[in-house]
Amino acid sequence: MSKLKTTMILDKNYQIAQVDERIYGSFIEHLGRAVYGGIYEPGHPEADEQGFRKDVIELVKELNVPIVRYPGGNMVSAYNWEDGVGPVEDRPRRLELAWRTIETNEIGTNEFADWAKKVGAEVMMAVNLGTRGIDAARNLIEYTNHPGGTYWSDLRRSHGYEEPHNIKTWCLGNEMDGPWQVGHKTAYEYGRIAQETAKAMKLVDPTIELVACGSSNTNMPTFPEYEATTLDLAYEHVDFISLHQYYGNRSNDPANYLAKNLDMDHFIKTVIATCDYIKAKHRSKKTIQLSFDEWNVWYHSNDADQKIEPWSIAPPQLEDHYNFEDALLVGSMLITFLQHADRVKMAAMAQLVNVIAPIMTENEGRAWKQTIFYPYMHASIFGRGISLKPILTTPKYDSKDFTDVPYVDSAAVYNEEKEEVTIFLVNKHLESNMPIDIDLRSFEGYKLIEHIELVNDDLKAVNTASHQAVQPQQNKNSKLDGGILTAQLAKTSWNVIRLKKD
Ligand code: AHR
Repeated sequence: MSKLKTTMILDKNYQIAQVDERIYGSFIEHLGRAVYGGIYEPGHPEADEQGFRKDVIELVKELNVPIVRYPGGNMVSAYNWEDGVGPVEDRPRRLELAWRTIETNEIGTNEFADWAKKVGAEVMMAVNLGTRGIDAARNLIEYTNHPGGTYWSDLRRSHGYEEPHNIKTWCLGNEMDGPWQVGHKTAYEYGRIAQETAKAMKLVDPTIELVACGSSNTNMPTFPEYEATTLDLAYEHVDFISLHQYYGNRSNDPANYLAKNLDMDHFIKTVIATCDYIKAKHRSKKTIQLSFDEWNVWYHSNDADQKIEPWSIAPPQLEDHYNFEDALLVGSMLITFLQHADRVKMAAMAQLVNVIAPIMTENEGRAWKQTIFYPYMHASIFGRGISLKPILTTPKYDSKDFTDVPYVDSAAVYNEEKEEVTIFLVNKHLESNMPIDIDLRSFEGYKLIEHIELVNDDLKAVNTASHQAVQPQQNKNSKLDGGILTAQLAKTSWNVIRLKKD
């Protein structure tokens, strides 16, 4: 094995790009207990006047989530948005086909826009291109974004929303490449409907940005042809292409599991290449950006979900209980986004509350933080500024599916305005601490503020409503001397090293 020592040079001039804060976005779908029993629980002691849980709002604010995708997900592909507006007592109960539950429609577009305001986030709204299409989409955007004086905008006003919501970011359907999707489409069928829906929506509001669906994951047989065909048709009408990916450790092989962000890196590079191929083919001046609008770990709850009775209201679906190793992979996935800050301009951790989520709630009880809450929070709070390119020398290992896996993953963000720099590091070594020297001589006059770490001897340690077994702590042994920072990255650890100009 190579010598266990990592070195890094970090120079303020080695810049990747300004981080678009929207990479710290998240996702609320009408699924399981995300909405009902998650963000919304009238009758709960913490419920506000609209029934939204204030304890959940506070946790979402701690994460500083800038944008939240809504209302699906698979659910949107058979959703009639009109069911969720107007007097609540008149709203229909429907069979929700994606997750085979009952949708009461108590919460819809207007209430969600109110909730998003309360947590300080923008809405990223998805339209139904499964069972519906251009007409429903153009009516919805007229309802949400047009000031007034027309049928749909006046309907909104009659529902008590005088001012438009001005939703700026829209998804053209969801995972339309997936045979599980209601209204699944071939790439050609999807590309055409995305193109025409995009045209109509931008005629209603030319200031919006649109995300076309890419592949649901890297294993889809149509990847990356689906992206190529879709963009060939819709290139000049859309702004982003979406990527979705979830990972799991089903074979209980932590070394291989912690390397899975390499697959994500490969996915991102392939989609960039595909976008730029179509750009060249069209002789276009425009560059399509990437929206990684579903990402996370998802596998713990798969078996439990098989046992849920269909047609119940807000059952506990997709309630993954995350452990310490999941938090490490989530940290590495966030690092991967920062390494691609020049093209990944939006992302959504899927999801936000109860459903494969950093925040959990008990019905009538507490709200609490899963292990993955912490790396997400650290990146969202400290990862705003310019993503720098660390020059890293670190030993590597091979695992079942990957070769040359760096033991240490790293990204760094320089906030010029605040005169702060934050270095994010994951040590994937299962047995050993990793000594690291970081050359920070270009940051003259900077001092070490803190070295935060997430460590645990047990990769399978989990948090619960009553016990936070996995939570950040301070590493007091790191030193900055003569522009060189020396630290020990604990075995299997997430690290956040923060510096500020004196
Ligand atoms: O986030 C859970 C589901 O995963 C979403 O509904 C779907 O888009 C994806 O397959």
